[in-house]
Amino acid sequence: MHWPGARHSESERMSTPEHVAIIMDGNGRWAKSRGLPRIAGHRAGVEALRQTVRAASDHGIRWLTVYAFSSENWSRPKSEVTDLLGLLKIFIRRDLAELHQSGVRVKVIGDRQGLATDIKGLLDEAEALTSLNTAMNLVIAFNYGGRDEIVRAARKLVAAVKAGQVDADSIDADTLANFLDTAEIPDPDLVIRTSGEMRLSNFLLWQAAYSEFVFLPCYWPDFTRSDLAHAVQVYSARERRFGGVAPRDVAL
Ligand code: FPP
Repeated sequence: MHWPGARHSESERMSTPEHVAIIMDGNGRWAKSRGLPRIAGHRAGVEALRQTVRAASDHGIRWLTVYAFSSENWSRPKSEVTDLLGLLKIFIRRDLAELHQSGVRVKVIGDRQGLATDIKGLLDEAEALTSLNTAMNLVIAFNYGGRDEIVRAARKLVAAVKAGQVDADSIDADTLANFLDTAEIPDPDLVIRTSGEMRLSNFLLWQAAYSEFVFLPCYWPDFTRSDLAHAVQVYSARERRFGGVAPRDVAL
């Protein structure tokens, strides 16, 4: 039986989140409010991401996951998709050396099949170069959708059952989790979404089952280290029960 709360001690409940995941929303509205093209918002969003990686590292956050491009984002106008892919390429080309120097390990989640060879090559390179780093983990969700990830995991699990590697009767939540893109990654403790929208938008559907959510009104390009500090503070004031009861209420 899988007891989600069993792995979490009382001290863990109140400490700095080990894993923060961010839905970086509002780039388009940030640009529009300034009379700028949407790409300007995405560019400013990349700068906010740079600052956030540094701030997260300063906070002692071990894992930072960012929703860079969803499996549904392909339906945006072709020019915007091209711009977003271009920004990802620039980000990796320009920032990889600094990330590596700072000891950041880069990991990419999402479906890599069918991606253009140059993008796939850059993602592979970022992971390979930084694979032994230990200061912090930056997880980039790219061509990522939570439902798609679960479907791909189910397919892999079925193949493993057919190959006799997994006993179908012994499948539990941990078995399926081991086939997700996030198999080696702890579940997010805190999910932050900017821009005032209050949705998960297909982000980490499985992994966010017991996450705390903090929704902030600012557009992503305006997100600063003090917004991160605020979100962490709100998180640490929350009481996480993982479906159980608070220790002080056990006897009631
Ligand atoms: C949501 O804003 C943001 C995105 C769809 C992409 C986020 C991408 C970046 C911050 C830059 C690229 C990332 C990397 C890793 C280089 P929106 O466009 O949906 O904003 P809107 O809701 O105001 O229109």
